[in-house]
Amino acid sequence: MEDTAAKILSLIKRRGLVFPSSEIYGGFGGFFDFGPLGTELKNNIKKTWWRALVQKRDDIVGLDSSIIMSPRIWEASGHTTEFSDPLSECKACHKRFRADHLMEKLRDSGELKKLGFTDEEVKDTADINQMAKVLASAKCPDCGGELAAPRKFNLMFRTFVGPVEDSASVAYLRPETAQGIFASYKNILDTQRVKLPFGIAQIGKAFRNEITPGNFIFRSREFEQMELEYFIKPGEDDKAFEYWTKERMRWYVEDLGLKEENLRFRPHRPDELAHYAKACVDVEYKFPWGWAEIEGIANRRDFDLGRHEKFSGTDLKYFDETDKSSYIPFVIEPSCGVERLFFAVLCDSFEEIQGGRTQTTEAVKEAETILRFTKNLAPVKVAVLPLLKNKPELVAKAKEIHETLKKLFMCRYDETGSIGRRYRRLDEVGVPYAVTVDFDTLQNNDVTLRDRDTMQQERVKIAELVGLLKEKFGC
Ligand code: GAP
Repeated sequence: MEDTAAKILSLIKRRGLVFPSSEIYGGFGGFFDFGPLGTELKNNIKKTWWRALVQKRDDIVGLDSSIIMSPRIWEASGHTTEFSDPLSECKACHKRFRADHLMEKLRDSGELKKLGFTDEEVKDTADINQMAKVLASAKCPDCGGELAAPRKFNLMFRTFVGPVEDSASVAYLRPETAQGIFASYKNILDTQRVKLPFGIAQIGKAFRNEITPGNFIFRSREFEQMELEYFIKPGEDDKAFEYWTKERMRWYVEDLGLKEENLRFRPHRPDELAHYAKACVDVEYKFPWGWAEIEGIANRRDFDLGRHEKFSGTDLKYFDETDKSSYIPFVIEPSCGVERLFFAVLCDSFEEIQGGRTQTTEAVKEAETILRFTKNLAPVKVAVLPLLKNKPELVAKAKEIHETLKKLFMCRYDETGSIGRRYRRLDEVGVPYAVTVDFDTLQNNDVTLRDRDTMQQERVKIAELVGLLKEKFGC
């Protein structure tokens, strides 16, 4: 399985889907740049989410709120006091660790027992007092040095707004997009003629100063979230929570096209619930290194709006015309990270065939890689290839077709290398269709349309090509 992860990472690097940020300066831990194909894939994931949650629904509207907001927002939401991870530093080599991750490693490797702690004693590996006790007798995994007692480390990035850098000008880069939604809730309510139940959806950047970013883009310091806040009448929250859990799983399987067997739910234990949540379930994906969270679905109660009402002094109650009552709505929040879905989509669609699928190309001995993206996610939808690069009439015709298709689809023109090599290059980045212009094209005004998954080739009249491709992409 680790091997599969290495192969996927190698493909990502080879084809420039993602780069380490600032690579010419040696990289910058926890930050990444998305290359041309990576950008397309990321955009397609976001479009798929937006289409299902905003475009196709009458009860959800979209929002794009600012990244830096009043620092009062983070006081109200509890982030300035609660949004922290336990950090432990080695006294000798000064490497910093997530203390709760160290605890889990010690537990899973059986080290805790060796250190004289029973399972019962350290049932809750996230308890800071337990951590302090255990880590006092544990050693730094890197150098064997003594570990300092863990302390809470706030994950929000701080900055200053305006020319003076003092405590009055401190602001934060948002660690979640959700608070922008709560802060704009009243404006949406007042201007959009929405009635409960209704939702506000947002896609945008979030920033967390993670102590140990890792697993490539899985835990990074700058990432994008797709968050929905779905407001309901108190008392209707359990039903809505159940609805959204099912709906999100449906979206992963039917819209994003992930394999059902690679997805599961993991309900949170009461002791791991976030400070605002009444209930929470993670959607986990089976990555090559194991199951890990891609989305959290939480019942945030009336916590956030209630706190913002108190801190801002603005009335955020909803007047319910059906029974003439006034209340702060409850909210259900499905929240996922674009980079984690990006990685899951790549893992799910990656396939390697030893020896290749065709026995006729010169590359026959090499393993063949295919990214079997669903058509809506594929970064490039169609490629246009002249059979031979040195025949001007084939090149001219192929370029003419490319000009037409690129107005409608993300399309690539490729004339370099043998046709077999070119098909392989396209399969490797998941291009669903290739249009080949050959000598018959010049006689019959038709082309070959090759399907990535079946490798079947059909002759299609040029005049019918656009219509056929539109049909295949469902547009
Ligand atoms: N508003 C709720 C919230 O932010 P969260 O579980 O902390 O909840 C939601 O984050 C999602 O954001 C996660 O399921 C994950 O997909 C993504 N996410 C969180 N931290 C991340 C990080 N450091 N790098 C990449 N994605 C992250």
